[in-house]
Amino acid sequence: MRHLLSIADLNKSDAVSILDTASELARVSDGAVKKLPTLRGRTIVNLFAEDSTRTRISFEAAAKRLSADVINFSAKGSSLSKGESLKDTAMTLQAMGADAVVIRHSASGAAQRLADCHWMSGSVVNAGDGTHEHPSQALLDAFTIRKHLGMGGSDLSGLSIAIVGDILHSRVARSNVLLLSMLGAKVTLVAPPTLLPVGIDNWPATVSYDFDSIIPHVDVVMMLRVQQERMSDLFFPNAREYSRYFGLNTDRMASMKKGAIVMHPGPMNRGLEISAEVADSARSVITEQVTNGVSVRMAILYVLLAGGALEVGSN
Ligand code: NCD
Repeated sequence: MRHLLSIADLNKSDAVSILDTASELARVSDGAVKKLPTLRGRTIVNLFAEDSTRTRISFEAAAKRLSADVINFSAKGSSLSKGESLKDTAMTLQAMGADAVVIRHSASGAAQRLADCHWMSGSVVNAGDGTHEHPSQALLDAFTIRKHLGMGGSDLSGLSIAIVGDILHSRVARSNVLLLSMLGAKVTLVAPPTLLPVGIDNWPATVSYDFDSIIPHVDVVMMLRVQQERMSDLFFPNAREYSRYFGLNTDRMASMKKGAIVMHPGPMNRGLEISAEVADSARSVITEQVTNGVSVRMAILYVLLAGGALEVGSN
């Protein structure tokens, strides 16, 4: 595997091997000495042309724990914000000897463009391209679900997962639907019709407009942020209406199955798609998603740059 642009680049055994590698690497992160020498002398560039906190620092921590040199390059204050083309940026990255570029960009397909151009020889990791995909987020979500609810197997067979909210603008939803269904889970998308994309019938998931009827039957409720910055139209009447039908509050949470978990990729709009009480409740694994993100991104960089998965020992 040279690049990670989309979950569609992976088959089930690639995905499971990234998750297994992440489990091994999580042990390093839990230890007193958090560093491995694996990527010493390699250069990883974090090219973030769109705002990010979690994903950027997570990739940075992952690269540093593997002893790589990390160059952070954000759009504000770089030539990208002066309209420099991706091609010129790629040539600069090549000249700096980047072994891998982790790219976030507001244009869907930007990571693919960088990977396809002949100006750069390193690996490309998509850290979120427009409304298209965010594969490392889906992998860390699958890792978190498997850790909590995995039934001993390497995949997610038998689990039911609801992804709720602004599906239309969500690259997290797109990547998760592909990955979670590939790993054997049954995925239900819950949203108002205005926040579902055209072509949703072809996704490997079922659709519901009725959160209350779905919530008692699922093992995971994954809430999505309402992406106001990507909304030029009115997609729902007002915030109160949205919360009333599609928000996760304590009343709704009370109808969840025993042992079911609440997830959110962050950043959260507390009080809109999720209440503060739910976000901070015992069912919430939201901060753990952030922790797991580092191990999963270490695994991605490991597989791309160190060639192949780690040998998985007996757990
Ligand atoms: C997501 C993103 O940027 O796509 N956040 C993240 O990576 N943690 C989701 C979002 O912005 O709502």
